[in-house]
Amino acid sequence: MSQQDQHAADQATQSDQADASATTRTIEPSGRPAVILTGDRPTGPLHLGHYVGSLRNRVEYQHQYQQYIMLADSQALTDNMEDTNKVHRNVVEVALDYLAVGIDPAKSTILIQSQIPELAELTFYYLNMVTVARLERNPTVKAEIVLRGFERDIPAGFLTYPASQAADISAFKASIVPVGEDQIPMIEQTNEIVRRFNRLANRDVLVECKALVPEIGRLPGIDGKAKMSKSLGNTINLGASADEITAAVKKVYTDPLHLRVADPGHLEGNVAFIYLDAFDTDKAALEEMKAHYTRGGLGDSIVKKRLEAVLQEMLAPVRARREEYAKDKGYVMQLLKEGTMRAREVAAQTADEVKAALGLRYF
Ligand code: TRP
Repeated sequence: MSQQDQHAADQATQSDQADASATTRTIEPSGRPAVILTGDRPTGPLHLGHYVGSLRNRVEYQHQYQQYIMLADSQALTDNMEDTNKVHRNVVEVALDYLAVGIDPAKSTILIQSQIPELAELTFYYLNMVTVARLERNPTVKAEIVLRGFERDIPAGFLTYPASQAADISAFKASIVPVGEDQIPMIEQTNEIVRRFNRLANRDVLVECKALVPEIGRLPGIDGKAKMSKSLGNTINLGASADEITAAVKKVYTDPLHLRVADPGHLEGNVAFIYLDAFDTDKAALEEMKAHYTRGGLGDSIVKKRLEAVLQEMLAPVRARREEYAKDKGYVMQLLKEGTMRAREVAAQTADEVKAALGLRYF
C-alpha cells in the first residue's frame, strides 16, 4: 500500500470508528462497520410489496449498519430513455416513500446515483472485467430483455447494467446487499468483478458482498397474481388514500370456491389471508379467524373488514408523514443532496483506490 493509500485508509477507519461509537453498529472482523447498500429504480411509487420485501427491513437495519440507499436513476434510464421525465419525477416520490415509512436520513444515507460521477467511472473500468457473453448469460438481464421485448435491439447500457450495479455496491464497500431473489445474479456478478479486480490489484481493494434475501417471500398482487407490481396494476401504494385502500380491499382475491358463508374456505392463495399474515399484529385472533374460515361459517366480508382495518391503521401514519414531507419538497431535495454529497466522498475514495491500482494515478 502506498503512503497515500495508507493515509486514506487510516482516515477512513477513523471516521468509520467515530460513526460506529455513536451508535450500536455491527463491526466486521476487519474493524470497519458493516456496510449495507440497497437501491431502487425510481420508476413509480412504492407499494406494500416493497414494504414487506425491503423497506420494513431497512428501517431496522439503519440502527445496526451503516446503510446506503440508492435512488438508481441512471440505472432506471437503461430502459426508460424514452421517458426521462418519469424517472426524474419519481426520484422525489420514492424518497417521500422512504421518509414516510421511517427511513431516517440521519441514520441512513439516501443518495441519487446519477449525481455521483465516480459510479459511472467505476462502471467504465469494470466493463473491461466482464465479457459480453457473461452479461448475456446473466439470468436477470436475460429475463428482463424478454420482458421488455428488446429482442436484438438491446441498449448497450441495459445489457451492461450489472457492471454498473457492481460499481454501486463496491463503491461503498458494501458487504451486505438486501435484495429480492431476482437480484441474486447481480450479486454473483458483482463478486466476480470484485474478485477479479482484487486479483489484478494483488490486494483486497474491493469488498465481496452477500445477498440478504428476505425470509418472507414476495407479496402477491391484490388480484392474486404472484407479484405485486405497478405494471400489473395490482398494487396498494404506500401513499394510497383511505378511499383507495377501501377500493383495493374490495377487489382483493380470496377463495373462488368459497361461495356461501357456511362453506369451508381455503387459505392457500387467498390474498386476504396472505396480507393479514404479513400485516396483522394480532396473531392469536388471526389464527382463530383462519380456523373459523377453513371450518366454514365465516364470510369473506368479515375477513376483508379485518384486512381493511389493519391496512388503514398501518398506512394512516405513513400517509400522514408522506403528506407532511411532500409539503416541502425543497427540504426533501436538501436531504437528498446532503446524503448524496456524503456518499460521493466515499465513492470518490474508492474510485481513487481503484484507479491507483490500475496505474491511473499520475499526480
Ligand atoms: N437493480 C435493482 C432493482 O431493480 C436496483 C439497484 C440498483 C440496486 N443498484 C443497486 C439494488 C445496488 C441493490 C444494490 O431493484
